[in-house]
Amino acid sequence: MTSIPHVTPGEPDPLRALDLERLRRRTSMKWRTYPEDVLPLWVAEMDVPLAGPVVRAVTDALALGDTGYPAGTAYAEALAAFAADRWNWYDVCVERTSIVPDVMLGVVEMLRLVTGPGDPVVVNSPVYPPFYQFITHMDRRVVEDPLGAGLRIDLASLEETFKEVTAGGGRAAYLLCSPHNPTGTVHTAGELAAVAGLAERYGVRVVADEIHAPLVDPGVAFVPYLSVPGAERGLSLMSASKGWNLAGLKAALALAGPGAADDLHRMPEEVGHGPSHLGVIAHTAALRDATGWLDAVLAGLRANRLLLRDLLADHLPGVRYDPAEATYLAWLDCRALGLGDDPARTFLDRGRVALSSGIPFGTGGAGHARLNLATSPEILTEGVRRMAAALR
Ligand SMILES: Cc1ncc(COP(=O)(O)O)c(C=O)c1O
Repeated sequence: MTSIPHVTPGEPDPLRALDLERLRRRTSMKWRTYPEDVLPLWVAEMDVPLAGPVVRAVTDALALGDTGYPAGTAYAEALAAFAADRWNWYDVCVERTSIVPDVMLGVVEMLRLVTGPGDPVVVNSPVYPPFYQFITHMDRRVVEDPLGAGLRIDLASLEETFKEVTAGGGRAAYLLCSPHNPTGTVHTAGELAAVAGLAERYGVRVVADEIHAPLVDPGVAFVPYLSVPGAERGLSLMSASKGWNLAGLKAALALAGPGAADDLHRMPEEVGHGPSHLGVIAHTAALRDATGWLDAVLAGLRANRLLLRDLLADHLPGVRYDPAEATYLAWLDCRALGLGDDPARTFLDRGRVALSSGIPFGTGGAGHARLNLATSPEILTEGVRRMAAALR
């Protein structure tokens, strides 16, 4: 029997605050891509009201007409304090940060700093589909190094790939996703130090996309890439966008290790023109003043992962799902259902529930679907009911 778990008291769980009728009034991609009879559990938006401190910061700015261009280092300072508090990482150096429009554009600009047209960029498939799109669009070449056992980085295979892509003496980069989307894997300090060692040995430049870093379970250590030994030449992207549901309020931070400061300083000034001043205000307030709200979300997400595990065991025992330690994304292995390469298609067509197809996530994605569980237990339950109904 599946029960709907309750979270421990504290801030009320933001994931339980909004009903379907309120959510359907939203005009964002999650809610407007499919017709009204489809339950959307796909793109990475959360079904939560915003944290109070974020709402106050943005509405205060609007009331003041403070809607010009961004200035200063408040975002980087807020991240530095958050990193020290949450991850015991005391080395965010504000001088080695830069505000960028969002994480993906930051990734592009950083890859531009360390590679040239046609150069290889290694990714661990299955991985966030825009990695393929943005890298290709900027005229670099994606080289897949699929995740290994337990959906973790396969260090032996990564070494072979690094060796291959640098064999001709050209430049190469590695776009690390940490924590990993779609699996929710949290890389360990040991794994990341090994990655840094390999990168140094083969002269591969690492760009770490750490957008999901705030969404790691309490008690599980998130290790910032730039904090591991050997990562001095690394580059990283951080943002409050996923943790506080602020994708519509554009901003992110690019960070450089001490050995990459010169690279970051070569970033063209015009990149700083992209972030929104309101975005910077919102992200800063989130990191600085809304950690209680984040803790409540994390408790709700943990409960939802366990609920999803129970619901699948009850209604769709053919789906393999191991609850992850981070992100609000669930990577579902549906290969035993006999629905072919794209099970999300069947769930959509016959169950009227939208998951993300596994195919665009690259090698390892076929037969899989990604479910977004950042919603209420009731909506999650209805989503699984629809998935099961699609099979009848
Ligand atoms: C790994 C990863 N990187 C980047 C993004 C997009 O970030 P942004 O909207 O800041 O470009 C997402 C969004 O889900 C993501 O999961």
